[in-house]
Amino acid sequence: MALGLSVLCWMLLLFCGFWARAQDVPPFTEDCRSGTYPPTGPTFKGNASWYIVNLDLPPEERWNSIIKDKKVELFNLIQVIKDFIKVFDPAGKIIGLVDDELPLILDSLPSPFLEEIKGIAAVSETPLGEIIFYNIFYELFTVCTAIIAEDKTGRLFHARNLDFGLFLGWDIKHSTWMVSQSLKPLTVNIDFQRNNRTIFKSVTFAGYVGMLTGVKPGIFTVTMNERFNLDGGFVGIIEWIFGIRNSVWIGFLIRSVLENATSYEEAKNELVETKLISPAYFMLGGNKSGEACVITRARETCLDIWELDLKQGMWYLVETNYDHWNKPLFVDDRRTPAMKCMNKITQEKISVPTIYDVLSTKPVLNKLTTFTALMNVAEGTLETYLRDCPNPCVPW
Ligand SMILES: *[C@@H]1O[C@H](CO)[C@@H](O)[C@H](O)[C@H]1NC(C)=O
Ligand SMILES: *[C@@H]1O[C@H](CO)[C@@H](O)[C@H](O)[C@H]1NC(C)=O
Ligand SMILES: *[C@@H]1O[C@H](CO)[C@@H](O)[C@H](O)[C@H]1NC(C)=O
Ligand SMILES: *[C@@H]1O[C@H](CO)[C@@H](O)[C@H](O)[C@H]1NC(C)=O
Repeated sequence: MALGLSVLCWMLLLFCGFWARAQDVPPFTEDCRSGTYPPTGPTFKGNASWYIVNLDLPPEERWNSIIKDKKVELFNLIQVIKDFIKVFDPAGKIIGLVDDELPLILDSLPSPFLEEIKGIAAVSETPLGEIIFYNIFYELFTVCTAIIAEDKTGRLFHARNLDFGLFLGWDIKHSTWMVSQSLKPLTVNIDFQRNNRTIFKSVTFAGYVGMLTGVKPGIFTVTMNERFNLDGGFVGIIEWIFGIRNSVWIGFLIRSVLENATSYEEAKNELVETKLISPAYFMLGGNKSGEACVITRARETCLDIWELDLKQGMWYLVETNYDHWNKPLFVDDRRTPAMKCMNKITQEKISVPTIYDVLSTKPVLNKLTTFTALMNVAEGTLETYLRDCPNPCVPW
């Protein structure tokens, strides 16, 4: 009970903070960038490094080598989050609850996530409750821009900026979001293998066992964007804490789809039909011309499937954090600038480098942007570049 209420209060505080900030931030856009690829310069912070996760190992051991490498970075991020929570909760009640009570709900997590999280807590020597919390909070603060596009020869490209850490502590001195900054060194590319063969590739944050972005070579690509909705995620999470557990964490669903779905259609059905803890947008691409869609989800139902429509000249889809049939919030319009740049590039010239240009144009690139990921399903490639957005730059 107390945990549910604390979480709710915390969310409300964050929401008010958002509106207060939104009032004094003017929209900032720039002309479409070009020639930014291969990445260089002040908006490029380096490549994400590659790791293999062997799915033939027992779940408790799969993450050992990654966590051993990233232990310090993981500790730092959790410290930043704790310091941030302390501002609202000086007595440390929330962290106390996270440490004492979250482990009690661990057993309700499905396999293999339960065992993997236990393994990560053990190797990182972090309290189990804090690793569980870390695995929950990506469901809540992921604001992003995702693009899927088909070129004239029928090749599909799928790319995203992952913008994370909104409201989670503004560092005045460096004018950066503290959580976004601490996440960059945790970003890892992972090659998930069985029998020494790639099953799928994904970019994620070390210690998080769900996935938000991934490619199953030759079969499909998938990304998730947060769908903000007050009756949505918060209600779902509170229900889940109180024991109503007939729905699935989004990151866990995407991980399962990447690991076990064997076709575009199968992946689509699972993303459309599975009951979710919070609402979301899924962007899914296949390996054939015309196979691409944005699935708009409420927690229990699918509200809309928006398909690529080449006959109508619709050769790409852009999704941010708003229903595609509504206008974006005026202080947070990344959709219009992204579409403007896509139209300028044209279908003849669309490619991995030109999509990187779009994702490098402010405000599509902003202070929350942690990384840009570019995927090509037919070649089975995933490239991840860590990003920075020096001033002048929009906070989101
Ligand atoms: C990033 O990776 C690319 C391609 O693998 C390589 O050419 C480049 O030197 C790397 N850049 C950095 C900063 O590591
Ligand atoms: C995977 O490769 C390693 C060495 O490259 C080998 O020792 C191991 O037996 C292989 N595993 C399987 C399941 O083929
Ligand atoms: C994916 O598409 C490419 C060409 O677009 C094709 O060569 C390849 O065979 C396809 N892969 C599968 C698994 O269908
Ligand atoms: C994928 O399927 C296998 C076999 O049914 C199962 O053991 C595994 O837990 C599934 N993976 C995920 C992430 O759900």
